Amino acid sequence: MKPQSQLGDAPLPVHVAIIMDGNGRWASARGLPRTEGHRRGAESVRTVIKAASRLGVRYLTLFGFSSENWKRPSGEVMDLMGLLRLYLRKELAELHKQGVRFRVIGDRSRLSVDIQDLIIVAEQRTRANVGLNLVLALSYGGRAEIVNSARNMAERVKSGELDPENIDEDLFAKSLETADIPDPDLLIRTSGEQRLSNFLLWQTAYTELVFTDTLWPDFRTEEFELALSQYQSRDRRYGSVGV
Ligand code: IPE
Ligand code: IPE
Ligand code: MG
Repeated sequence: MKPQSQLGDAPLPVHVAIIMDGNGRWASARGLPRTEGHRRGAESVRTVIKAASRLGVRYLTLFGFSSENWKRPSGEVMDLMGLLRLYLRKELAELHKQGVRFRVIGDRSRLSVDIQDLIIVAEQRTRANVGLNLVLALSYGGRAEIVNSARNMAERVKSGELDPENIDEDLFAKSLETADIPDPDLLIRTSGEQRLSNFLLWQTAYTELVFTDTLWPDFRTEEFELALSQYQSRDRRYGSVGV
């Protein structure tokens, strides 16, 4: 029997961001290589994209690989890049069919050229789609994104194009990679860790945080809906007084 949806009537988040963590521990607990955890994690990605599309979530940002993950053993980095390559090749047609608009944030120049090409193809093919906006953060670091933005504005000031007086929060946000994406309403982190690990530092200023002990490969529709229902019970005050 299909489990009953746990969702209430309150509005759902427009933008959900997820730190997909715990693949390694999922595999270790079963005596499997870490790669197997990443492979199973890719299945959770598929499931959550479908659930988000079905529920009408407009933006889904998934943390796939951080700027710090390059520090992992080269074998694991290679495995992760192999899975990413496979995912981009295999899933594009399905994503397109679902009306998903796909894009990548992060320092893509560090990815291998063939993966960069696959990303360009996926972004171009899906750019006119009007369904779920899927944002994959790859080789992404929040601090690097903020520093790049500051550098970009400093260059515009130097060239006389920008008056420092005109730098405000809106302008700053517009010079980030997420310029045309609303801030996340809800951020989910799986696997029991309660930290941001350099994800969307600027954008999460007023994001609701949900932490779950579930490891990412076990995070499927039911867990996703549970996180959404927790969001629905929150009172977002933005520093003001409640209603
Ligand atoms: C998340 O799972 C995937 C990536 C960070 C790429 P981990 O690989 O971090 O799994 P744990 O945290 O070691 O269990
Ligand atoms: C964050 O997870 C990055 C991704 C999920 C892609 P990590 O597993 O790299 O984070 P830490 O090292 O536990 O902070
Ligand atoms: Mg981890």
